[in-house]
Amino acid sequence: MPHALQMEPTVMVIFGAGGDLTWRKLVPALYSLHCDRLLPERFAIVGVARKQMDIGAFRQRLREGVELFSRRRPVDEEIWSGFAERVTYLADDFTAAGSGPALLQRLDELEQDWGVRANRVFYLAIPPGLMAAAAAHLQKLGVCRDCRRDRLVAEKPFGRDLPSAMELDRLLTGMFDESQIYRIDHYLGKETVQNILAFRFANSLFEPVWNRRYIDHVQITVAEDVGVEGRGGYYDGAGALRDMVQNHLIQILCLIAMEPPVSFAADEVRNRKVDVLHAVRPIRPEEVHRFAVRGQYGHGSVGGKPVPGYREEAGVAPGSVVETFAAFKFFIDNWRWQGVPFYLRTGKRLATKVSEVSILFRPAPHQPFPSAAVENWQPNRLIIRIQPEEGIVTRIQAKQPGTRLLLGPVDMQFRYSDAFSGVPPEAYETLLLDVVRGDATLFMRADQVECAWKIVAPVLEAWESVPPSDFPNYHAGSWGPEAVDHLTAREGHNWLQPGLADEPR
Ligand code: BG6
Repeated sequence: MPHALQMEPTVMVIFGAGGDLTWRKLVPALYSLHCDRLLPERFAIVGVARKQMDIGAFRQRLREGVELFSRRRPVDEEIWSGFAERVTYLADDFTAAGSGPALLQRLDELEQDWGVRANRVFYLAIPPGLMAAAAAHLQKLGVCRDCRRDRLVAEKPFGRDLPSAMELDRLLTGMFDESQIYRIDHYLGKETVQNILAFRFANSLFEPVWNRRYIDHVQITVAEDVGVEGRGGYYDGAGALRDMVQNHLIQILCLIAMEPPVSFAADEVRNRKVDVLHAVRPIRPEEVHRFAVRGQYGHGSVGGKPVPGYREEAGVAPGSVVETFAAFKFFIDNWRWQGVPFYLRTGKRLATKVSEVSILFRPAPHQPFPSAAVENWQPNRLIIRIQPEEGIVTRIQAKQPGTRLLLGPVDMQFRYSDAFSGVPPEAYETLLLDVVRGDATLFMRADQVECAWKIVAPVLEAWESVPPSDFPNYHAGSWGPEAVDHLTAREGHNWLQPGLADEPR
């Protein structure tokens, strides 16, 4: 990694600087990078939003975000003031005629001051519906023309569906080079998600069993105990499928199922992931109910506290039919995975916050033990815990101590926090630094995003054309709607309780 001093001068312009993402994620991540001296010495942040705000008020709001969400707490006064000096604010509405000169002037001032043409990163932390307009604005201003120096970061969800994602891609690639466009999915910046690649491809132990011969099925769970956290307005136009499945969950699926890449060159890794997406068996419209389940939470209790139902959340329409839970069963039609179900589920206001992948192995082909010995017998299981308590657990059978031959499951555990000291960087820290350095490996290419939309398109269409009659259909604090059990039961499987507990839920 180049040392901060050798990194090229960079201006990061954040559109949507008044929003939640900037406050909770982007600025806390940039602050941590500043603390670790990983940003270029000449680095400036220009926040752009519609609201009139003086720079003092803007910096104060950012500071509150850092105090609440940064991993570098408490905030160090001296470090903060060094960071705050890098930040300026522009009240500007790029959708209004005549907007733009102020941004041009700000870029000009910074570059004059530094005496160089800086690298420019334009971060579009704005709703998908505004992305094309923002990109057209940048193109018109001519501030993002240098393919080597200028980058555009697009937040997910990228489009609302396949046609809108394709249209957005057509517009963006008409204005910018594909190498300038960084489509972000913050799950790819998570340490434990990246560790899936290390686990699979840096160890020769697992690859021989990583296929249909040994693996019975795979479960991917991304459960949240929070509700919509004040983002009801956005969420009610998106839903779980667009917000989580099309991007985060499908990306995890790719990492679990992909073939070994020849190298870690950005396109090599992305090609192997796209291969998986091409191989996912399409869900036929008449079969959607057999392969996908949706849900919406009603009131309930989480962590012992009563919480309102989704329809009572601020910004949500009272009769909303938007799903806050989605589960899928996928098959991957290739040699490695033929016939192995991949179950995916995600939801808000579930019993706990946990993201993990469980790989369930087939039973040993022959059982030589007396039947009494195997009463507690369970197939081998490997659990990749993404959050919290990041780590990997392998469940094996062992002889229980004693004079009789009795088998029981035991766990071999690797916990990140035990094995390594220090707090790992937040996903956004890794990804923002990659953007500044110009490394696109962890970002999504246009074809990846489009393939992911193609996979979920039949479900999206079916769900939108037939509104659910049973919403809300799960209580806040539960594990989702009952119907989700049918997905697994049809194949003779059970959802596992995430965490280390043994029992099916
Ligand atoms: C975001 C979604 O992409 O991911 C949110 O828009 C969700 O709705 C969040 O809460 C979950 O991220 P994490 O890192 O907390 O698992």
